[in-house]
Amino acid sequence: MPRVSSVADIESNLVEAVEGMDRSLLHQAYWDQNEFLLLEQFIPPSVVKPCLCEIEQLGGEVHRNYVPGHKQGGSVSFYSIQQKASAILALYRSPALRTFLSRLVDAPLMPCPDDDPHACALYYYTKPGDHIGFHYDTSYYKGARYTILIGLVEQSEHCRLVARVHKGKAPTEISETRIPMEPGTMVVFNGDKLWHAVTPLGAHERRVILTLQYVTDQRMGPLKKLFSNMKDAFAYFGPAALMHRPKSKQTSINDRAMIRSDMMADHPTLQFLAGAWSASRNRDS
Ligand SMILES: [Fe+2]
Repeated sequence: MPRVSSVADIESNLVEAVEGMDRSLLHQAYWDQNEFLLLEQFIPPSVVKPCLCEIEQLGGEVHRNYVPGHKQGGSVSFYSIQQKASAILALYRSPALRTFLSRLVDAPLMPCPDDDPHACALYYYTKPGDHIGFHYDTSYYKGARYTILIGLVEQSEHCRLVARVHKGKAPTEISETRIPMEPGTMVVFNGDKLWHAVTPLGAHERRVILTLQYVTDQRMGPLKKLFSNMKDAFAYFGPAALMHRPKSKQTSINDRAMIRSDMMADHPTLQFLAGAWSASRNRDS
């Protein structure tokens, strides 16, 4: 069980961090960049430190994943964080942080439901070549989904968050930015708006990133929930992640057609799953 004082300490340190910011300037920058903001060393060392202890303790929970042509790396789900990482959980549930983010994005943000393994998760880049290709963090919720990335370990010259960020007022003015995620550096974006990737890790390098997800509506339709489950199981946390979630309804032939046309095209992992599904159906027939 977490010590009450440590959770309280994390909150008071986050209150201090938020109060030290020029919020109107940040608000302007976020919207000028089409809902993207980089905040270097935003999370104070006093909060990063207990998180670093927890990522070492969670080493045995890392699930390695590999999607050919799109990604490879390790992930720890929200289920493990809920059970074993009280400091990271306190950061995710911080009222000060959530209020700050809500004002930034002009929407009342909520945490994801507890059965979403991606609500608050860790990405471990530990083997040469670990990376993820360009993608959106598509929202399968009924409302918008916002991604917060926080650097915890940055011992790499090669592995960088690459973001295609809008500059200026014209929608065509886009600049590709390569971002080192030093401990405490935070990135905030609307998942449906930022085209982003992570370049491959080099030899003898290590990088660990914490992701926090917030939404404006915690509801998700059954079909989208099915695909969110599949994406999480195959591309991030392994089949065990499915055991924690309510069963989705059986899909019909019409559902499958709709999935292929409307949803899979927007995410490389889903495109890979579509191919695997088709191959499986061909073998069965
Ligand atoms: Fe992403």
